[in-house]
Amino acid sequence: MSAALNPSDATLVVLIARRLLPAGKDRLAARCEIREGGLEATHEDLMALAPGVDAIVADPAVPVDEALIEAAGERLRIVANYAVGYDNVDMDACRRRGIAVTNTPGVLTNATAELALALTVAAARRINEAEAELRAGRWHGWDPGDLLGLELSGATFGVVGMGRIGSRYAELVAGFGGRIIYTAPSPKPEIEQELGATRVTIHELLADADVVSLHAPATAETTGLIGPAELDAMQPHAVLVNTSRGPLVDSEALARALRDGAIGAAGLDVYEQEPDVPQHLLEAPRCVLLPHIGSATTRARNAMAALVADNVLAVLDGVDPPNRVV
Ligand code: DGY
Repeated sequence: MSAALNPSDATLVVLIARRLLPAGKDRLAARCEIREGGLEATHEDLMALAPGVDAIVADPAVPVDEALIEAAGERLRIVANYAVGYDNVDMDACRRRGIAVTNTPGVLTNATAELALALTVAAARRINEAEAELRAGRWHGWDPGDLLGLELSGATFGVVGMGRIGSRYAELVAGFGGRIIYTAPSPKPEIEQELGATRVTIHELLADADVVSLHAPATAETTGLIGPAELDAMQPHAVLVNTSRGPLVDSEALARALRDGAIGAAGLDVYEQEPDVPQHLLEAPRCVLLPHIGSATTRARNAMAALVADNVLAVLDGVDPPNRVV
């Protein structure tokens, strides 16, 4: 990493690709010139704004590819992602140029785990369908056989990825008094001790779990992690929840599994090509769909914005940013 720019002889320029909440933006604006793409910014817009910037503030909707990095030019020191996931950033291109990449871990753990819990309950108890029936005037009174769902008390919860968010989700669902099984690259003795969780293979998890909740990053290894064979391996009443990243799930296979009754229900917050939500998912039965709001609490989004500012200002001051991933 090259030395800090001397603020006396250069204006620090930060490109906020889309939008950064005031908890971060105000601190950056106090010391830097801000260029802002706005929520509608296209890749071309960003290419036009990028030349000469010292920092890019990106988010999951902003592909920071080689072209954008090139367009920014020599001065670019940091890509500060306004998210914990950073699969939208070309890490190799940043590594090659010595550009720091940072994320916002920790502060969105509760918010995202809580949303995974909400999707678990909503999908298991068919809450969106039930509300839609009522709003459409199709509720004709209490029916003992209508809208029957999966009871979660005593259920087996399969947590795929026992990092911060997966662990918090496991703590939350432990309240249902069931069993927790998980997959992770390495054992998690603390969570095993705290919750009696058992590490299993993905095959065991899919076969045993009543609920499968995904908490792994999007990488080459996790792309298509849940495809036709995996959905087939799940129990016909099982619920699939995805609050991590869309590419982990083959959405066509999921829609088919829901249609054919191969699995019970699904709750999704993320999609392969956001903001596109594939028609086959929109038409699939027993499927709760949310617009990527996992971290959307006031507390989490403000704290994430503050971390973005911490990271950008650290790099501009020539010190190592607190949340550097590259
Ligand atoms: C993240 O931080 O990666 C989330 O998906 C954004 O909410």
